[in-house]
Amino acid sequence: MTIKIRKFDTLIIGAGGGGLRAALQLARADAKVAVVSKVFPTRSHTVAAQGGLNAALANVSPDNWHFHMFDTVKGSDYLGDQDAIEYMCRSAPKVVYELDHFGVPFSRREDGNIYQRAFGGQSQDYGGEQASRTCAAADRTGHAILHTLYQQNIAAKTHFFDEYFAIDLIKDEEGYILGAIALEIETGEPIIIEAKTTLIATGGAGQLFRTCTNALINTGDGMAMALRAGIPLQDMEFFQFHPTGIAGKGMLITEGVRGEGGYLVNVDGERFMERYAPRAKDLASRDIVSRAIAIEIREGRGCGPDKDHVFLKVDHIGADIIKKRLPGIRDLAMTFAHIDPIESAIPVYPTAHYTMGGIPTNRQGQVVVPEMEGPEEPVPGLYAAGECACVSVHGANRLGGNSLLDILVFGRAAANHIISHLEANRYHRQMDMDSVEKSLTRLARWDKKGEGESVPELRTEFRKVMEDHCGVFREHSVLEKGLEKVKVLRQRLQNARLKDHSKIFNTARIEAMELENLMDVGIATVASALARTESRGAHSRMDYTERDDTNWLKHSLYFESGRLDYKPVRLKPITVDPFPLKPRVY
Ligand code: FUM
Repeated sequence: MTIKIRKFDTLIIGAGGGGLRAALQLARADAKVAVVSKVFPTRSHTVAAQGGLNAALANVSPDNWHFHMFDTVKGSDYLGDQDAIEYMCRSAPKVVYELDHFGVPFSRREDGNIYQRAFGGQSQDYGGEQASRTCAAADRTGHAILHTLYQQNIAAKTHFFDEYFAIDLIKDEEGYILGAIALEIETGEPIIIEAKTTLIATGGAGQLFRTCTNALINTGDGMAMALRAGIPLQDMEFFQFHPTGIAGKGMLITEGVRGEGGYLVNVDGERFMERYAPRAKDLASRDIVSRAIAIEIREGRGCGPDKDHVFLKVDHIGADIIKKRLPGIRDLAMTFAHIDPIESAIPVYPTAHYTMGGIPTNRQGQVVVPEMEGPEEPVPGLYAAGECACVSVHGANRLGGNSLLDILVFGRAAANHIISHLEANRYHRQMDMDSVEKSLTRLARWDKKGEGESVPELRTEFRKVMEDHCGVFREHSVLEKGLEKVKVLRQRLQNARLKDHSKIFNTARIEAMELENLMDVGIATVASALARTESRGAHSRMDYTERDDTNWLKHSLYFESGRLDYKPVRLKPITVDPFPLKPRVY
C-alpha cells in the first residue's frame, strides 16, 4: 500500500491551548508547522475552561509572582518541581499580556485593567489574606483564548490537519522521533507526517472516569502513544476531582462561583467548609474541598432524596453579578440541573477533572526519560506540553487557574526550544518504515469485522471500574481489585470486534483505538495509586492517611511493561530560596 507523506519542520499533535500557543510561536518564526487534531480545533477541550488563568498582575489584590509560587508549591503538597513552578509563575504576567495583545476579550475592571477573581488556594503574603489572581473572560475564558489563538494561527499560516487521528509516533532505531502516523477520519486513509520535531499536546484523560468534566475526546491518546514509544508516565496516581460538578451529570461549575462569593451547604444549611478549612473555607484547595463534600455525604449530611450531593449557593450574590460574571454556569445549571442559580442553589458533587501526571518533560518542553540516578535524557525530537505533560508544576494537586497558565507557558517554552533546535538541525532524518508498519498493524486490527464484545460496552464498564476503584478515597484492597479488573478489561478489548456493518465506520475504529489508549493510561493510573502508600494532595489513601516525606517525596514513573520506578522532586528553584516542606493547612 502506498501511503501519503507530508513533511514539516514541526508536527503538533493536538489543537488545544498548548498546541495552538506553540504553533503560533513557531509559525511566527517562519517554521513550517502542522497541527493534527481529531476534532475541529476550536472544539478542543480548552474551549471548556471556565474560570480563568492565574497571573500575579495585582489588579485586584496586592500580589507578586513569589506569592503565586508559594501557593502553587503548597497546593502541590510539595510534589511540584520548584524550578518549573518558579518559571511558570514568573512567566505568567507576560503570557497574559501577550494574550491580551492577541485579542483575548478579557473581562475588565472599571479602571480598564484585566478583571481578576479569587480562586482556591490563593493567598497574599505567603498564606495570608485571600488573593484575587485569576484573569477571567466572564466564565468562558478557555473559549475566548482558544478562538483567539486559532484566529492568530490562521493569520500566521499554520497548516491544520482537521479531523485527523494520530495513531502513533514514528521512532527510528536510534530513538529519534520522526513524526507520526495519522488517520484521515473522513476517508480512513493513513498518512505519514514527517517532522524534524514533534510536540504532543493532546490534553488529559478525564474520560477514564464515568463522571467527569472532560469532553469525549479526552482519552489520553498522547500519553498512550508515549508509553508505546517506551516513555514512562509520571505521577499518574494524582488525578484531580473538581469539587463542583453538577450532581449526577459531572459538568463543570467553575470555582469562579465560589470566587465570586458562592458557598457550599449541607442538608442542614451549614457552611461546612468552615470546619474543614477554617481560614480559606470554600476556597481551600480542590483536593480538600472534594474530600469534605465526600465526607459530608458519607456521614449522612448530603442533600436530596438520596442524600447524594451538597448545594452550591450563589443566589445571594445577585442577578447582576451572575449575569455579568457567570453567564455560562447559569446556562449549564438551567440546562442540566433545571434550576436558575439566580433563584436556587446548584446541586453539586466532585467530578473527575484533571490529569496531574503525564509525559515527563523539562522546562523547555523536551520529553525526558528520567533516571533515579544521573541526568535526565531528552528523547531526541520529542516535546510535550499541556495536560498530557508532567513538567511538574502541579505535583499532587493543581490549583484552579494554573491549568490554562501551564498550557500557555510551556506551549510557548517548547516552541522556543524547538526554534533553536531547528536552527541547528536543518534536515529531516531518514524515515523508519519498520516503525510505520507497526502502527499500521495496530490500525489493521480494527479493520476486522465480526462477532466479539462491543467496544462501547467495554468502555462503559471500564469507566465504572475506574470510578469505583480509584476515586476520591482509595485503599489497598479496592485498588488491587481495580487493577485486576482493568487488566482483564484490556484483555477483553483485544478480542472485541467492530460490528459487521456493510462498511466499517471510521469513527467506530477510532473509538476502539481511543479505548485502547484510555485503558493503557487507566492501568498506569491504578498501578501507580496502588504502589503509593501515603496520602498526598489528590491521592488520598484510607489505609495510609498521612503524607510521608521520608519515603514518598518522589515522582513515580510507570512503564508500559508495568514496571514502576521513581525520581526525586526538584526542590531547588531557579533564582529564589526553596519553600520548605510544611504541613498543609488552609
Ligand atoms: O473551576 C474552574 O473554572 C476550573 C478551572 C481550572 O481547572 O483551572
